[in-house]
Amino acid sequence: MRTSPTYWIVIASTALACARREGAAPVARSPFGTTREGKAVSVYTLKNARGIEVRVIDYGGIILSLRAPDRAGRFADIVLGFDSLADYERSSPYFGSLIGRFGNRIAGGRFTLDGKTYTLARNNGPNHLHGGLKGFDKVVWDVTPFERGGDSVGGGLVLRYTSPDGEEGYPGTLRATVTYTLTNQNELIFDYEATTDRATPVNLTQHSYFNLAGDGSGDILGHVVTLNAARFTPVDSTLIPTGTITSVSGTPFDFRAPTRIGARIGQNDEQLRRGLGYDHNFVLDTSGSTGPPPTLAARVEEPSSGRLMEIYTTEPGLQFYSGNFLDGTLRGKGGVVYGHRYGFVMETQHFPDSPNHPAFPSTILRPGQQYRSRTILKFGTAP
Ligand code: GLA
Repeated sequence: MRTSPTYWIVIASTALACARREGAAPVARSPFGTTREGKAVSVYTLKNARGIEVRVIDYGGIILSLRAPDRAGRFADIVLGFDSLADYERSSPYFGSLIGRFGNRIAGGRFTLDGKTYTLARNNGPNHLHGGLKGFDKVVWDVTPFERGGDSVGGGLVLRYTSPDGEEGYPGTLRATVTYTLTNQNELIFDYEATTDRATPVNLTQHSYFNLAGDGSGDILGHVVTLNAARFTPVDSTLIPTGTITSVSGTPFDFRAPTRIGARIGQNDEQLRRGLGYDHNFVLDTSGSTGPPPTLAARVEEPSSGRLMEIYTTEPGLQFYSGNFLDGTLRGKGGVVYGHRYGFVMETQHFPDSPNHPAFPSTILRPGQQYRSRTILKFGTAP
């Protein structure tokens, strides 16, 4: 499934060579709390040579904070989240989390694979969402930090989790490894790998909510988005793709030219009504020829700060979620109230409900195959 051996061999050997270099900055680790089940949780701090700082916990692989400079060099935290582990355990809408085994929805919590029907938790209306009641966002990952010296490389974390056969209803023992790398080119790289001992659907992603003007600073409607997608997958009233793949042309889903999120979000459009805004999978123009190397999927610019984020991926789809379910009931870091659309999420992934849509790119991983996926977030500033 989506492997191109040469590319990945180059990536692996570069990583090894980098790991052997000297002069790396240490990755700091300190306690963050204890889960309800009594597991100790640590926070790891990655810093690159240009001052970007990313804090990650082993619970859910959650990115707690990400500090990046604006056009004047002022740093701000640009992701939403909480101050305490208890808040993440109690009421998080997947702030900063790794998502698995299956990013986004599976219709009716049910799919059939090789003649057998599997039943999953319906944790989102009639549907299964983001891996179920205790998905990869709610488990404690085994984390190994690494450091890479030199001007062009940074450091990172290898997160490992073995999901037992039958966990959350999914078949097969799934061994997942996710590597977060912060480079000195201001990139945050997510490398996902997995193997299984029985055929199973897999669709891993990262669910950080961004506000490039700064966490808690207001809604994200003024952010200017460009998506490399001429098509999207329209949804039914429960946000399951209908199965058709539609042109964005002439619709509020056309982000091929830079457009403010808020420019058309209030239009009287059936798809916007169903999503309560944007909550849709965009079919990336590279779809069909997916695989390495990662290609540009999205560019987001926040005009007042000048902060810019580019997203490159090997995935065929991108779920663009405009934070429609944020409604002012959650208090985040420093007690800030997260109002409507105070953050947006760009989930690089295979299409929602793929196990029930044979025409969509397959999400089935089989024994002997290696799941590999890479997404790069590149931070910068615009003049
Ligand atoms: C994804 C889904 C949304 C919502 C968020 C979490 O983006 O598509 O509908 O569930 O996760 O709140």
